[in-house]
Amino acid sequence: MTDSTKTESLYHPVSIGSVSIGGNLFLAPLAGYTDRAFRSICIDRGASFTYTEMVSAEGLARNSGNTERLMHRAENEDLLGIQIFMNEASVAERCMPLLLAYRPTVIDINCGCPVPKVVKTGAGSALLQFPEKIHQIVSTIKGCCDVPVSVKIRLGWDARSINYRETTDAALSAKADMITMHARTKSMGYSGTADWQALADLKQYVASRAPHVPVFGSGDLFSAEAARRMLLDTKVDGVMFARGAMGNPFIFTDTIRLLTEGVQDKAASTRERTTAMLRQLHLMGEDIGERLACREMRKHATSYLKGLPHASQAKQELVHAATFAEYEGVCSRLAEESRTDL
Ligand SMILES: Cc1cc2nc3c(=O)[nH]c(=O)nc-3n(C[C@H](O)[C@H](O)[C@H](O)COP(=O)(O)O)c2cc1C
Repeated sequence: MTDSTKTESLYHPVSIGSVSIGGNLFLAPLAGYTDRAFRSICIDRGASFTYTEMVSAEGLARNSGNTERLMHRAENEDLLGIQIFMNEASVAERCMPLLLAYRPTVIDINCGCPVPKVVKTGAGSALLQFPEKIHQIVSTIKGCCDVPVSVKIRLGWDARSINYRETTDAALSAKADMITMHARTKSMGYSGTADWQALADLKQYVASRAPHVPVFGSGDLFSAEAARRMLLDTKVDGVMFARGAMGNPFIFTDTIRLLTEGVQDKAASTRERTTAMLRQLHLMGEDIGERLACREMRKHATSYLKGLPHASQAKQELVHAATFAEYEGVCSRLAEESRTDL
């Protein structure tokens, strides 16, 4: 079999429990980034499935309006994974009525967040130390509804306590419908190299126990080529783009092209990037208003403009941009400057 024949089958539909999804290139949950404006932009550019950022189950149980806002769907978002975080099953149970009102396609359990504020409550990656809690949470949610449940874990707490097989067993024995692993430990945070060998091991492990349960890989997916390599080398069923999608929603179409046609696209042009960025800004404005959207957009803008000629001056100007018109001015000047560079 040639390399290109092999890569063709790497882009394919996946089933998560009863739900069929057209492709296997997902947008990962990203706190502070995967709001519905950004998710919508990624869907337009080929993301097969998207997740909300992590939503506090406790906040939902208490009916907090701010928490609810995170679950609003984008217009082009028929399917939506809602990720929740909590420290124990009773919280999961109490949040279900409000969560289900938002018709999640999949409910994802966060077992990977390393942020101290979350971990000290016993949620996020703290759950990795108590696999039985993961079992109880999945089991409780499965008992409340027919929505497929996915679990997002890490390798383990630290290098001395790698226990992804154990946490996976806990989830599978409660009938979890999908496992995603961010192949770093909690102690690594987001630095160091993700351990793709562990992903290969996990895929094999799950295939031998629950072959219908897809395994997704996360960690160091910064290009279409990286996604192709992860799919080829680890045999995971799909990938979740995270930091690699920030300011680069084109990574989805690039990967589809690479996997289906073997074509390596050239980097998106200045105009393509600024057009996507402005669209995201306007969508965000519909949700939180022009002023706040302009402020929130700065971190995304830094990623959109990364590596572009004349980007550093544009970034400086955007630090003070408070209106759509100011953003548009900076973007059209940037696009014009890069055109005259040619
Ligand atoms: C700013 C930021 C926010 C994140 N928020 C979440 C989150 O809400 N839920 C979650 O499961 N993972 C979260 N992650 C982890 C990512 O989903 C992903 O697993 C991780 O970044 C590894 O992939 P990468 O190396 O390709 O970026 C976050 C990561 C970053 C950098």
